[in-house]
Amino acid sequence: MSYNLLKGKRGIIFGALDENSIAWKTAERVHAEGGTFVLTNAPVAMRMGQIKVLANKTGSEVIPADATSQEDLENLVSKSVEILGGKLDFVLHSIGMSINVRKGRHYTDENYDFTTKGWDISSLSFHRVMQSLYKADAMNEWGSIVALTYMAAQRTFPDYNDMADNKAYLESVARSFGYFFGKEKKVRVNTISQSPTATTAGSGVKGFDGFISYAEKMSPLGNATAQDCADYTVSLFSDLTRKVTMQNLFHDGGFSNTGVSQEVIERFSE
Ligand SMILES: NC(=O)c1ccc[n+]([C@@H]2O[C@H](COP(=O)([O-])OP(=O)(O)OC[C@H]3O[C@@H](n4cnc5c(N)ncnc54)[C@H](O)[C@@H]3O)[C@@H](O)[C@H]2O)c1
Repeated sequence: MSYNLLKGKRGIIFGALDENSIAWKTAERVHAEGGTFVLTNAPVAMRMGQIKVLANKTGSEVIPADATSQEDLENLVSKSVEILGGKLDFVLHSIGMSINVRKGRHYTDENYDFTTKGWDISSLSFHRVMQSLYKADAMNEWGSIVALTYMAAQRTFPDYNDMADNKAYLESVARSFGYFFGKEKKVRVNTISQSPTATTAGSGVKGFDGFISYAEKMSPLGNATAQDCADYTVSLFSDLTRKVTMQNLFHDGGFSNTGVSQEVIERFSE
């Protein structure tokens, strides 16, 4: 179903690695709603080649950018405005990576070089992206910027490791930059706190299978899928949510406000 919600709108979508990526599903949905965009990912992710498939499908150009490189981001912003033929209306930051998780380092045994690198990729990059857009005055009034986050920023999930801290920082950046982007440019900035989702980044979390099925049983509506997240993001890019800004929006089938569910009680009454 398509409602032409993004007709005439232009943007940048970060983080489509493969067809499971939340950014991939979002790009397809934005395309279906009439939006045009540039796709971007880290140069190393380009080698896997799949993003070209998505680019062909959605009639988009791909510009590689390492989200930790100011130079890459400035180039991405100026080229995108040029390619798309005007200022931007939406940006999706869908980037996350913990080197400690990847290398199997426990939270109580962090390698701080890994911590710093993971924070740079997962959190500071959101500030970098917004500062690049802000300084280039690349966003149209009533534009919308969204980043993806997880509830480990508020509540402890032991195996989420240093990504919990990275997400807390990311959500804070959304509020802080959201103030200035709102005041000066009438642009909104929000984070979507998404259910666990089977993607490359998601499956990197230890015990992910148990984690995702527990969340499923705890959520009255069940887990939100990547496709559901794409739909929600489109609503935040549309003109129907113009006064929503500086929010962390839970998109999790009700998980975040559920103390316990009947299914979980039954499991422990066996
Ligand atoms: N999958 C989940 O369970 C889940 C839940 C809540 C939030 N999220 C968040 O959703 C976002 C998207 O993740 P996903 O689950 O779709 O997984 P994904 O692995 O498909 O996407 C992560 C992306 O980050 C990109 N990336 C890594 N380093 C980069 C760099 N230096 N520069 C630019 N891009 C870089 C990767 O290439 C990849 O495309 C992340 O922020 C993630 O933390 C995921």
